[in-house]
Amino acid sequence: MSTATESTAASAGLRGVVAAQSAIGDVNGDEGKLIYQGYDIHDLAEHSTFEEVIFLLWNGRLPKQDEFSDLQAKIRENYQVPAEVMEMMKRFPKDADPMDVLRTSVSSLDFYDKEGHGTDREHAMKAAIKITGQIGTLAAAWDRIRNGKDVIAPDQSLCIAENFLYMLRGEKADADEARMFDIALILHADHELNASTFTTRVVAGTLADMYGAVTAGIAALAGPLHGGANTNVMKMLIEIGDPSKIDAWVDKALEEKRKIMGIGHAVYKTEDPRATWLRKFSKQMGEKKGEMKWYEMSQRIEQLMHEKKGMFPNVDFYSASTYYLMGIPLDIYTPIFAVSRISGWTGHILEQYGNNKLIRPRAEYIGKRDLKYAPIGERQ
Ligand code: COA
Repeated sequence: MSTATESTAASAGLRGVVAAQSAIGDVNGDEGKLIYQGYDIHDLAEHSTFEEVIFLLWNGRLPKQDEFSDLQAKIRENYQVPAEVMEMMKRFPKDADPMDVLRTSVSSLDFYDKEGHGTDREHAMKAAIKITGQIGTLAAAWDRIRNGKDVIAPDQSLCIAENFLYMLRGEKADADEARMFDIALILHADHELNASTFTTRVVAGTLADMYGAVTAGIAALAGPLHGGANTNVMKMLIEIGDPSKIDAWVDKALEEKRKIMGIGHAVYKTEDPRATWLRKFSKQMGEKKGEMKWYEMSQRIEQLMHEKKGMFPNVDFYSASTYYLMGIPLDIYTPIFAVSRISGWTGHILEQYGNNKLIRPRAEYIGKRDLKYAPIGERQ
């Protein structure tokens, strides 16, 4: 704002600012409630599937059987990525960060979708289906490419969750693990105006294409304060190493004003409802693998952070140990977040295109004024 009378103290990090109207999802931070298009996340996690949730986020209602089958078929037809993109990925440095690879490869999908720049609903929906089908293939392929393994072709008989695990690990998941992972994808699908979703809406608001908006979302998700937290939770657990060291480790971290990854949330002031499910999965996986250490360590950190800071775990806290016990490499946790969040991003982009207004807020200017330009040789 340019004048003192117009000036309002900017809210740090836009906390509490309502920046868009949306019918897609709502986070009630005081009650720990999350809804997608009117449905409670617990109800969806209990009864729905990730593909059904995608339809819900994009269309505002649950699908009828024929609509569900149609969307499922279209997504599966798009599991395959262009051979050129795969060839390009094979030339990337093998130590490239998986989120950087995902960002670059998703961006390049645009070259091979000649209609991908359309922002009308029909074209944008086609692009959304394509990216949703392809993003898991890219994320899984990179882990194989960097390890010198053959890329596993997607299997159209499998749902997104099963297919991703199959392409990543080379073998099909058992029914329990597949269902658990499908629920994990449901839980990560949308979260209102989180940093990456807001980013996608800002880009879409310029009427840039779906691929560009999603690429920007991936860049935002990668940060350790957002989706990157899940990888960092597991790094922290491994660094602590032993349950007996937790109390001292947490005390030191708090003393040094370091943040404990996977704890705290910008909106939730109580239990994150997604963490309720992931805590259960972390325990289940621990029991299945006979390795309870990571779950127990996480529980102790949760307890300490609640006692000392009144804080709660977020979605990333227990997903870390769950994925670890599923044999998923640490730096693939955030790409998995993207494989799910693509549904929310594309839903928000479709909503933005449908009722677009360029997003262009103001900054509260706190710099100097009325300085006189001095030639370079005369500057102090
Ligand atoms: N560990 C320790 N202290 C934490 C903390 C954490 N994970 N998260 C917040 N705090 C403390 C801050 O140090 C700060 O303390 P101070 O007031 O004494 O300086 C206070 O709580 C407020 O922190 P702030 O970062 O301003 O709150 P926020 O509402 O912006 O935080 C997050 C939201 C998610 C960014 C923050 O909790 C965080 O960084 N968590 C860890 C990263 C993470 O898990 N991200 C995934 C989110 S889904």
